[in-house]
Amino acid sequence: MRIKVINGPNLNLLGKRERDIYGEMTLAEIEQQLTNLARELGCQVDFFQSNHEGELIDAIHACRSGYDGILINPAAFTHYAYAIRDAIAAVELPVVEVHMSNIYQREPFRHESVTGAVCRGQVAGFGPNSYLLGLQGLVEIIGQG
Ligand code: DQA
Repeated sequence: MRIKVINGPNLNLLGKRERDIYGEMTLAEIEQQLTNLARELGCQVDFFQSNHEGELIDAIHACRSGYDGILINPAAFTHYAYAIRDAIAAVELPVVEVHMSNIYQREPFRHESVTGAVCRGQVAGFGPNSYLLGLQGLVEIIGQG
């Protein structure tokens, strides 16, 4: 089982960026935790991060060959990027959306997820653990076929 973990804009700055909201852990540290959990769950994880919408869309499309599912934090694109939503719908793979913060407790513009509507599930508000919980859920969904 092979899963792609895709992170959107500004998440390369985790650990430095708005630490009161997103905490101290870097993206590399989160990816290491995901790699460890993936080993326990018997799957393989590969990582991609971009600050550019088109690159994220290309990465989602590329998952059509060789991947069984996608774990994605589209970051701010969550709230308005219809092209990313369409890419997720187009690939016909199970996709789980994660957010470190509880987007529903924050500014009104973050309350809507245009991408979440085409994902199989969403995890929000658990900090770095959102990624780990999301991976567990995604592996279960893939396992159910
Ligand atoms: C985020 C929430 C988004 O609203 C924000 O733009 C981010 C991070 C999260 O993980 O909590 O960049 O996706």
